[in-house]
Amino acid sequence: MPDAARTPLVAANWKMHKTVAESDDFLDRFVGAIGDLTGAEIVVCPPYTALPSAVERTRRSPIRIAAQNVHFEDSGAFTGEISIPMLVELGVGGAIVGHSERRRLFCETDEALARKLPALLDAGLEAILCVGETEAERDAGRTEEVLRRQIEADLATVAGERLGAVVVAYEPIWAIGTGRTATREQAQEAIAFIRALLADRDPAAAAAARIVYGGSVKPANAAELFAEPDIDGGLVGGASLDPDDFVAICAAAAP
Ligand code: PGA
Repeated sequence: MPDAARTPLVAANWKMHKTVAESDDFLDRFVGAIGDLTGAEIVVCPPYTALPSAVERTRRSPIRIAAQNVHFEDSGAFTGEISIPMLVELGVGGAIVGHSERRRLFCETDEALARKLPALLDAGLEAILCVGETEAERDAGRTEEVLRRQIEADLATVAGERLGAVVVAYEPIWAIGTGRTATREQAQEAIAFIRALLADRDPAAAAAARIVYGGSVKPANAAELFAEPDIDGGLVGGASLDPDDFVAICAAAAP
């Protein structure tokens, strides 16, 4: 079991799924089904278009709504981008940054992440930073090297004592959307390594930081992953699209 001082966190990353009507339908069912579940924090990250309605529908529930990306500048000539003040205006509570799909398909860089993370924290928003290695990197024994490079570069601009406010999601790229979940030993080992990297900067912040696992989390494997001492919950893609599956995963984080 992870340290009781760290409340487990489960986040749904819907990616480019669900229209506003579909998001509303999911949330109406999910908010009812999750009831007064305590012991885990729940974050749902719909596409931008569904954010206003999602904030409205979860207003009287403990569920928080976050975006899947954000730009670091408040405004400017950045066609197609969304800024932190725009999210704040909607009542959105945070953003995922550095997801491997954004790094790979949309050229999100460590330099951009080093600007996004302090900007989110300065605005009082929750930052969920994704890191993780490719299959080739793992096979070559380079997992720790990749994680070190990402953690050091992405969090370089976040002061040590603020590191505990960042949620880190360890998402091995070979496990995302593949049905090939990391074993609990693999996930625990990588997450303990990430915590040690944070501890090099600030031991208290490292002990307080939530570090979650992502990559084919499902109702059938959630409980065993979340039972590991350093795994503080999950970032869930495919299985978060179904309200019943996502309820089961959230319940597994709050036994
Ligand atoms: P998955 O996605 O659960 O569908 O593997 C996880 C993610 O990309 O965050």
